[in-house]
Amino acid sequence: MTEVPRPNPNSQEGRDIAYHLHAYTNARKHLEVGPLVIERGEGVHVYDNAGRQYIEAMAGLWSVAVGFSEERLIDAATRQMRKLPYYHDFSHKSHGPVIDLAEKLVSMAPVPMSKAFFTNSGSEANDTALKLIWYRSNALGQPERKKVIARERGYHGVTIASASLTGLPNNHRSFDLPIAGVLRTGSPHFWRDALPGESEEEFATRRAEELEALILAEGPETIAAFFGEPVPGAGGVIVPPPTYWAKIQAVLRKYDILLVADEVICGFGRTGRMFGCETFDIRPDIMVLSKALSSSYLPISALLANEKVIGPVIEESDRIGTLGHGFTAGGHPVAAAVALESIAVIEERGLVEHAAAVGARLRAGLKALEGHPLVGEVRGVGLIAAVELVTDKAAKTALGAPGQLGALANAELQAAGVIGRNMGDALAFCPPLIIGEAEVDDLLGRVAGALDRVAKELTLDATS
Ligand SMILES: Cc1ncc(COP(=O)(O)O)c(C=O)c1O
Repeated sequence: MTEVPRPNPNSQEGRDIAYHLHAYTNARKHLEVGPLVIERGEGVHVYDNAGRQYIEAMAGLWSVAVGFSEERLIDAATRQMRKLPYYHDFSHKSHGPVIDLAEKLVSMAPVPMSKAFFTNSGSEANDTALKLIWYRSNALGQPERKKVIARERGYHGVTIASASLTGLPNNHRSFDLPIAGVLRTGSPHFWRDALPGESEEEFATRRAEELEALILAEGPETIAAFFGEPVPGAGGVIVPPPTYWAKIQAVLRKYDILLVADEVICGFGRTGRMFGCETFDIRPDIMVLSKALSSSYLPISALLANEKVIGPVIEESDRIGTLGHGFTAGGHPVAAAVALESIAVIEERGLVEHAAAVGARLRAGLKALEGHPLVGEVRGVGLIAAVELVTDKAAKTALGAPGQLGALANAELQAAGVIGRNMGDALAFCPPLIIGEAEVDDLLGRVAGALDRVAKELTLDATS
């Protein structure tokens, strides 16, 4: 192997190594390899500090729906900055952008929702959902109804409660998580988790039966809510079988358990409809929104809750004297103005329909790679897809250490000018909704080339 030269300590890379502890990064390895410093963005592309162009095939972190250079969002932010750069929604205060955004989100929701509450990240929104659910149980005089169910490989964030809802080991290990009262049920990943000979329908039925068995074992009167992403994203882009959500919802309704749809990735067009709940016919009590809400130009998240949740919350706040929850920057006017503009761009330019069309092209192009020796499964919906890499197709296994093959392929992709993301051995693709057909084809060509080079490299390794 060739030695990677150490960055100059005075360069951006050197100073990043010296001063910056990174999120989701092996901190020791970072001391050796340093960062990729991204300097600017344009459309679906970003450029590093050496001027090299990359297709941003993850839209940042599944989030930059309108691309990296949308002037309308910049203008909306500037206008609002000049008018009122900050205000809050504590103690009966409000401002125009947060009122407009609350009304807009409630009116867009695919099921009747009562009110919006604003937070700054997906994690905070999920924490807030859990707190409101507990608050509601107390309001209803059901203090024992506090447990919540989340899924293996589900992702809901990293704060103490939301990391506990997250079903990935690295979010728990050495953090002394999860907290008590979070129950775990199986992931909807048919390819990975089906029993030999099981059909998709049988698999979905089994998952619903397992959920019901868990509820009965714990006591239905102790279970407050079920948290799920319509399509689990960070756990590997897992598209549930067609009848999965109907069967799960039937069980939840039977035991009067609230459903929280974490739409942080799926919301605002990603699945080819405005919300993942529409794509999968999900009727949630709470929807959690972030990321494409503002195209991540500024941090903002929200939860929408129906009257079944909001009614008791209102009563409990009156009994106590206040709803003792809220964030200094929740519903920030500049972020809210940017969110309203991002939604307007998505609606006016027909980006949801566009995402469905270019998404079909992307998925068909990736599907054509299923014959490749390294490709185990290609899955996706709308404009979100994953390529599961294997070295043994029959056994569905990859290289020795889980994630090793994924990381290798992802590095090869980056060298080919594509910023992607490997979740274990799955390569995810979630480009901005504005991506054009020619850009999709360019991406597909680079993915195929990168996989060929990895296959070649592995064969060479095996024979050397
Ligand atoms: C479905 C889902 N929920 C919640 C989160 C957490 O959001 P944040 O990173 O803004 O806290 C994420 C982040 O990727 C997510 O994908």
